Order: sequence, then structure tokens, then C-alpha cells
Amino acid sequence: MDHDGATAARRRRERRPFAGEFVRHPIRAGAVTETATDCVGGFLDEVRLADARTVVELGAGSGAITTKLSTRLPASSRLLAVEVSPALTDRLRTRCPEVDVACASAFDLPDLVRERGLPPVDLVVCSVPWTVMGEQRDRFLGAVRATLSDGGAFSTLLVAHRARQDGVAASWVGRHFAEVRAGRVLWGNLPPLRGLHADAG
Ligand SMILES: C[S@@+](CC[C@H](N)C(=O)[O-])C[C@H]1O[C@@H](n2cnc3c(N)ncnc32)[C@H](O)[C@@H]1O
Repeated sequence: MDHDGATAARRRRERRPFAGEFVRHPIRAGAVTETATDCVGGFLDEVRLADARTVVELGAGSGAITTKLSTRLPASSRLLAVEVSPALTDRLRTRCPEVDVACASAFDLPDLVRERGLPPVDLVVCSVPWTVMGEQRDRFLGAVRATLSDGGAFSTLLVAHRARQDGVAASWVGRHFAEVRAGRVLWGNLPPLRGLHADAG
């Protein structure tokens, strides 16, 4: 098999566990496949990685963001990845053995950080099914804000049309954070996605 063929085969293998999860838990999974590689790269280009020391990823899935995030963070930083699905957590631990992976709900983030004795968290990266979270969104964002240090950063990935600067998702996030900025549309995924980035003032 040539190099391109081998890469395509590896990507298909990597996407399989996520498709199985979608069949079993479609609402919780929130997508049929993991986020496309190009899209993850474009999203992380917009995230404040350079000065991040203690980082949490919520809804890490099968590791599409985790794999890239862990290589792009400063070497001295710590990364905790939180994923609620046991099957995806297993996959994530195999794919990213260097990352601390918690099989838990993102709603328990303050406890997870406390139990591990982590220093103040200065970056939360997130990709969870916002649209099905309903009234729970405020509780979720409250847990994130309570965990982030002042001056910390929050970045989340959303379906592009829901993540406009003046859109409804920006208003949920804006209730908890000082400033919300929409990133560029990331066309490499189906559906196209976009980052929303906010600062904990
Ligand atoms: C749209 S997928 C994104 C997965 C991965 N980050 C990616 O980009 O491919 C959303 C992920 O959030 C997870 N999830 C849903 N609710 C969660 C919760 N309350 N706490 C932690 N993870 C959750 C799902 O199991 C799923 O893996």
C-alpha cells in the first residue's frame, strides 16, 4: 500500500470507534465521526496554547483533538482529557497514552481537578453536543468558569452556523465569560465547524 493509501486506511480505523459510539448513543455522541484532522488543526491555530500550563479538554471522544493538542502544548504543561463514554475513553487511552484521561462527565470538572490536585487551570478546550444540552448549558459553563483561573481561556468547537459572533451560542457563553470571539469557518469537516473563544476576565 502506498503512503496515501496507508494514511487513509489509518484514518478510517481511527474513525470506527466513534461511528460505533454514535450508533449506541447518538444524542450524547453528537456527531457521526470524530472531527476531521484539518478542522482540528484550524481550530487549534486559534486557541491560546503558547502560555497554557494546565489544560483540560472536555468531550475528548476518540482523541481527534487530544492527539494534536498534546503535541502542540508547551512541553511543561499538563493535559487532562475528560470523556463520558467508557468505550471512547478506552480508545483515547490507547491512542494518547501520555495524556491523563478521566472517564467522567464534564459536569464534574471541579471535582476532577480537585482530586488530582491540579494547579489553576488556564485553558479549557471543549467539543460537546451543545445543542442537546438544553437548560444544562448554564450549569456546564458555570462549572467551566469556576474551574478556570482569572485570565484563563475557554475555546469550544461548534457547528458553524450556531457559532456566529452575535449568535445564540455566543450569548450562552457570554453569560459566563468577559469577551466572546468567533473563529473562521472550518470547511474541512462535515458539517463545517467554527471555534468560539472566550476569556475568563
Ligand atoms: C461531537 S463529539 C466530539 C468528540 C471529539 N472531541 C472530536 O472532536 O472528535 C462530543 C463528545 O462529547 C462527549 N460528551 C457528551 N456529553 C459529555 C459530558 N457530559 N461529559 C464529557 N463528555 C461528554 C461525547 O461522548 C462525545 O465523545
